[in-house]
Amino acid sequence: MKKRTAFLTLALALGLTVSLAACGSSKDGGSSDSGSGDKTTSKVANKDKPLVWFNRQPSNSSTGELDMNALSYNDNTYYVGFDAKQGAEVQGTMIKEYIEKNIDKVDRNGDGVIGYVLAIGDVGHNDSIARTRGVRTALGTGVEKDGAVNSEPIGTNADGKATIVQDGTLDVNGKTYKIRELASQEMKNNSGATWDAATAGNAISTWASSLGDQIDVIASNNDGMGMSMFNSWSKENKVPTFGYDANSDAVAAIAEGYGGTISQHADVQAYLTLRVLRNALDGVDVDTGIGTADEAGNVLSEDVYTYKEDERSYYALNVAVTADNYKDFTDSTKVYEPVSKQLDKTKSPEKKVWLDIYNSSDNFLGSTYQPLLEAYDDLMNLDVEYIAGDGQTESNITNRLGNPGEYDAFAINMVKTDNGASYTAILNQ
Ligand code: BGC
Repeated sequence: MKKRTAFLTLALALGLTVSLAACGSSKDGGSSDSGSGDKTTSKVANKDKPLVWFNRQPSNSSTGELDMNALSYNDNTYYVGFDAKQGAEVQGTMIKEYIEKNIDKVDRNGDGVIGYVLAIGDVGHNDSIARTRGVRTALGTGVEKDGAVNSEPIGTNADGKATIVQDGTLDVNGKTYKIRELASQEMKNNSGATWDAATAGNAISTWASSLGDQIDVIASNNDGMGMSMFNSWSKENKVPTFGYDANSDAVAAIAEGYGGTISQHADVQAYLTLRVLRNALDGVDVDTGIGTADEAGNVLSEDVYTYKEDERSYYALNVAVTADNYKDFTDSTKVYEPVSKQLDKTKSPEKKVWLDIYNSSDNFLGSTYQPLLEAYDDLMNLDVEYIAGDGQTESNITNRLGNPGEYDAFAINMVKTDNGASYTAILNQ
């Protein structure tokens, strides 16, 4: 490192043209630089390089059981996401409280039944499952199946006869209302992409034409789908839509009648995603700059994340964003101030990271998460190569992990949560 910097300074002072290739080889030939160097091909075996899974937790998409083989692939493997259960409760409660507070205007046809429709993101994704359960639990419409609230879609249920859900009841101001899930559907498009916003926009039009003013509230597993339904129908019809993610466009829409959303603290998640890699690359304790302040002063407080050692997982905590507080959340791409300080390049030298986003058209990952990652990668001196998937085909992404030897660390966002082994198999080679 030092040798190379001195050489570069001298060369520049002398006005010499320096070829980077020449620099690289001179560095390789050096003896004092044991792997902590600049952007070079790491000598560490691929299977031993730091690996972080994010946003889609390695798990069985039918049972939700965590894939501990993927989560503890090597000593420097972690998952970064958010607390799905806590967030789901916050979302369910936010919707219930809105109904209670606005009871006079919510029941549009005055039939004493509060009808809602639900957009489901991906029936095999544990975040999506948790959110469906959270809404059904808070509104009393959930039905237990195998020890948990059934999270399957119901199709339509105008008459309340579905068995996957039941009618709930809500007492407000001395009157008892029924709450009914009128319809729910997984928003998957014809090519197989899940959490599909356009599909949700079409679904609300179909539902509105058959269910009309029975629809009093719209719940969505995310803002991408929520905003699509808001723009195609709910805004005009003054029906509140509740989403999840606190994307900037959804937060802004609260001023125009969007019911509310949940911040899953993407600013903390994006930081953690890169920070666990950075710490492993620097050979420092994984808690550095997380629970323990680093030299620059970056540190997270316990009210924004938890770490579960047995799951090798970091979970950011969620907050409700409603008409009461949305002005504090208008820019979803702003780095989190307590962890916004630049790392020293001499101690945390530039490293190369391979990172994929499962679906280039995912609203949350594209409009909130990736811009945050791009801000943090500079602060952490990481040279990140961003790979965009099509949301449907895992091999479309794994094919682009053809040369893992060129990278120092990996950050993986799978298409399907079952597919951890498709990535680790490549690193094992
Ligand atoms: C987000 C969704 C997103 C999904 C992608 C979830 O955490 O809330 O908006 O589509 O991640 O995996």
